[in-house]
Formats: sequence, structure tokens, C-alpha cells
Amino acid sequence: MHIEDPKVVAALSKFNVELRRASSFAELTSLAIGGTTDLLRIKNHESIPGLLSLLASHGVPHRFLGGGSNLLVGDGELPWVVLQLASPNPDVVLEGNFAQVDAAADLGRTVTYCAKHDLGGMEGLIGVPGTVGGALRMNAGAYGMQIGSYVREVKLYRAATRQIEILRGEQISFEYRHTSFAPDDMMLAVKLELPSKPYREILQGIRICNEKRRSSQPLGQKSAGCIFKNPPGASAGRMIDELGLKGLSVGDARVSDRHANFFVNAGKAGAKDMLTLIADVRERVRSEFHVELEHEVVIWNA
Ligand code: EPU
Repeated sequence: MHIEDPKVVAALSKFNVELRRASSFAELTSLAIGGTTDLLRIKNHESIPGLLSLLASHGVPHRFLGGGSNLLVGDGELPWVVLQLASPNPDVVLEGNFAQVDAAADLGRTVTYCAKHDLGGMEGLIGVPGTVGGALRMNAGAYGMQIGSYVREVKLYRAATRQIEILRGEQISFEYRHTSFAPDDMMLAVKLELPSKPYREILQGIRICNEKRRSSQPLGQKSAGCIFKNPPGASAGRMIDELGLKGLSVGDARVSDRHANFFVNAGKAGAKDMLTLIADVRERVRSEFHVELEHEVVIWNA
């Protein structure tokens, strides 16, 4: 979508928002798939309510983008603009066992920064790409831990009240790759409470998780991590593997040879290729195992 109205364009600078015309999701996502739209980079949280009411009053639909690492976006010119937070400096502030982290902060960098200050707990998240805001929204987890366990407060723009609010950890439910945030809520910052641990010990945990990830996941390739959630008591990756579907391709969209729940863009895959592959694998799992796999990857295809 191209913002045409000069009044809207002029108002954006009043809100300290940077407009990047025709930004491509092939560059904004780790899958390197998706069409183009205007990207609005937000430099201060306080401008968000005003910005969103400006867009609503001019009939400009929008989506919120985190780090783009768990996202599959449709091809062509997209019918909405995309909003993304620009990362402030500093993006992590520590006080005792609390880490105040901006949603735009890089997740891996945050884990490492806290570790260097003897704050642990998040070792499993090392190697999970994306922002802290994205991890929060999805309740990212790996190797027996999930970020939700450490959340004490969340600052967010709440679509329901159209205001910036602070929620306490106990007001939010964190489940397996699911949270109680509304789809239109925008994560702004989080306060984590992390256990004290010597850096050397945390580093050892980080190395173990890194090694496990390197040996089982296609890290150097373009992917969005796991495509499907694990059904209760089962593993989507193992089921797809047992069906012999590693290497199955539609165009350049391909089931990884290393981990069957990772679908990679092996060249110039389009969204259509990837969506066809996802539907095909889902159908085969349904007919062979009688299990309906649920998407873990977020799909913006309209
Ligand atoms: N397996 C196979 N073949 C495969 C892949 C896996 O047989 O191609 C088997 C493994 O040998 C293992 C079992 O399936 O016995 C589980 O595999 P793995 O340990 O790789 O974990 P996963 O359940 O496939 C989950 C998360 C990952 C996370 C890892 C590590 C989901 C959907 N996936 O994968 O998260 O990194 O555990 O904790 O919950 C993601 O969120 O995008 C993601 C990749």
C-alpha cells in the first residue's frame, strides 16, 4: 500500500515516524518471502496512539512487525502498511535482578547482555532470531524454558483502550506459543526478573543449547523456524520425517533435509509456493496420522 494523502505524509514527521516507501518483505523477513508496502518506523512510543488514530481516520489499515523471523507474508503489493519500532539506545537497562527491555531489542543480544551481568534463565532462547517484542507475543521457548516465566510487567499499546498501558505479569496468560494479548496489541517494552547466575555457568548453558540447535536445525538457511506447533504429546517434525517428506519441494519452497518442521526458501520461493507446500504437508499428516497440525508461523496473506 502506498500512502497517497499528502496530509498523512506530512503528519508522519510530526509523530517522528520515518516513512520507507515500498519496503519489501523479502528483506524484512528471515524467510525472504513477501511483497511490498510502505513501512513506518516509530521512534518514540508516545506517538503511537496519535499515529494509529491518524491512520484509522484516513482509512489506512496497518500491521505490526517485530523482527520478521516467524512470519510468512503474501506476494505482490500488500493492502496494508506496516509499523515497526526503531530500537532506542540503550535498549536494555538492568537494575538488580530486573531487566527493562525495549520490545525492539534483539532477543539474542538481550540474552547475552543479561548473561554478561550474571543474569540467567534465558539460555534456551539463544539462537532464536527476532525481537524481544516478538518473543513476548508468541511466548517463545526452547529447551524447556519460555520467556513468559520471567515477565513481570509489559508496556503495550492496547487496541481495546487505544492507550499505552502497563500490565503486570499475572494479568497475562502465557501458554505454549500463545499469549492472551489481543492480535492488535503492540508490545512496547517488558520488565523481566531473571535469576542470578555466574556468567561462566550461563555461558556453559548457552553453548549446550547452541550445539543442540546447530546439530538439529538448518541454521544457515532462510526459514521461519518451525512451521507447525507440536500437537499435544507428539512432534510435528518427527511425523513429517516419518512420512519421508524431507526434501519435498514446491518451486524453491522446500522441507528441510535437516529438520522436517523447518521449511526453507532455497532460492526465490514465492508465498504461493510456501503456502502450497504447507497445505500439502498438513494434508498428508492429516490423512496418515489423523492429526490436524496448527501453524506456528504467523501468516499474513490478505
Ligand atoms: N525429529 C525427527 N525428525 C526431524 C525433526 C525432529 O525425528 O526431522 C525428532 C527428534 O529426533 C526429536 C523430536 O523429533 O526426538 C523433537 O525434535 P526437536 O528436539 O528438534 O524439537 P521440536 O519439537 O521439533 C521444538 C520447538 C523448537 C525448539 C526445539 C528445541 C516447536 C514447534 N518447536 O522443536 O522451536 O527450538 O523444540 O527446544 O515447539 C520454533 O519455535 O520455531 C522452533 C523451532
